Amino acid sequence: MVEATTDSGTNGTTTGGRKRVTVDLDQHSATYREHWPQISDDLLDRCPVAWTEAYGGVWVVSGHQDAVRVLREWTTFSSYQDHHDPTSPRRGTSTPPQPQLSVPLELDPPASTVYRRLLSGPFSPQQARQREPFIREITTACLDRITESGAADLVAALTNPVPAIVTLDILGLPLPLWERYAWAVHRIVHSPPASAQASRAAAAVGDMMADVGQTVVRRRTDPTDDLISLLATATGDDGRLLPLDHVISACGLVIAGGVDTTTALVSHALHWLHRHPAQRERLIAEPARIPVAVEEFLRVAAPVQFMTRTATRDVELGGQRIAAGERVMVSFAAANRDPAVFDCPAQVRLDRTPNRHLAFGSGVHRCVGAHLATVQAVVMLQEVLRRIPDYVIDEDRVERYPSIGVVNGYVNLPATFTPSPATGVSLPG
Ligand code: HEM
Repeated sequence: MVEATTDSGTNGTTTGGRKRVTVDLDQHSATYREHWPQISDDLLDRCPVAWTEAYGGVWVVSGHQDAVRVLREWTTFSSYQDHHDPTSPRRGTSTPPQPQLSVPLELDPPASTVYRRLLSGPFSPQQARQREPFIREITTACLDRITESGAADLVAALTNPVPAIVTLDILGLPLPLWERYAWAVHRIVHSPPASAQASRAAAAVGDMMADVGQTVVRRRTDPTDDLISLLATATGDDGRLLPLDHVISACGLVIAGGVDTTTALVSHALHWLHRHPAQRERLIAEPARIPVAVEEFLRVAAPVQFMTRTATRDVELGGQRIAAGERVMVSFAAANRDPAVFDCPAQVRLDRTPNRHLAFGSGVHRCVGAHLATVQAVVMLQEVLRRIPDYVIDEDRVERYPSIGVVNGYVNLPATFTPSPATGVSLPG
């Protein structure tokens, strides 16, 4: 699936006279979308650290151990985006790089630390548990809108609105805005780079960020008890308010992180359970197994497929010489299928423990929303399996994201099921 070739490279410093393994990989292509498990397995098997010329050239790191090293060794593999100097090689965590700085994702410690500290409270395991009744209420309200009809698109009806509404609630943004914001985020995430669709989505994200910016400015002088107020009024080590543009960016990242990834995870789980009725029956009979199953869905779906760093010095990784300034992209999808860590990685085992998947990353930028995402996924799966347990997905009409190089998601999941009465819970706002 992946053609690995070696060459001596064009840059003597880069290769130090060694053969550089080159692959033809474009993570935003239709080929990658259709064959990502096989491509990931091939990379792991033949060239766990390889160079692709896509998007100006980037190393692809597939092995679990090397991926963990890249994610944890932040002084060597920097997340920093130097948005002051367009010629700097430090171009942040996206491939291709995004023009906007993402905070704290594209800062290195110590600059990122204050944001991590602020976010760790509202996204703690305890807070995630405390939010469970609200998450269940929103899930119930979403299911109430479809149960009587016996047919629905499970993305539009459930996996899209629940994470979006919960995220806006934490930030303190008006809940009715969820649909507009979720549309913008989903579109920007799944549009192939430089496509017309990507430009339209960028405009919608720009509008969303303008709204968020105005709210941050208002909360600076008139704070409430929400996350935007916490960030807007926080001070750094120098005792001064955090920079406005960084605070706005951090709010935007919480929306982006909160909205699309959990949608992708639960959509994958619902699709997989449709295809594996015996396993579905098992979870229906024993819902206490759902939290462990969610970890396995995280491993096999890898909702976030790649994250990029920039090498700050010449370094050897997986037998390859990486030069200072070169870009290094971790494949979470491949690392989660590494046979050195996971027994029979291609098999989905809903009771797999331990499960050292990297779906939430590792190290100083490990996902702050991991606990919240997990609670949301568990609640959504519990409620679907309780209220519409016999759902059947119309495979012919399922649409995956055009590009899964950022988030491995679904545009829709058209389904039918035995109708049942609503319970009378409505969406707030
Ligand atoms: C299934 C759901 C999710 C997955 C798979 C996921 C995945 C990830 C990954 C892999 C990273 C690390 C990026 C890196 O190392 O460069 C990350 C960071 C982040 N995630 Fe998530 N995420 C999920 C849900 C959420 C949720 C629900 C939120 C918030 C509401 C969130 C907010 C963030 C933020 C703010 C960061 C940046 C942390 C930092 O830079 O220090 N994520 N996420």
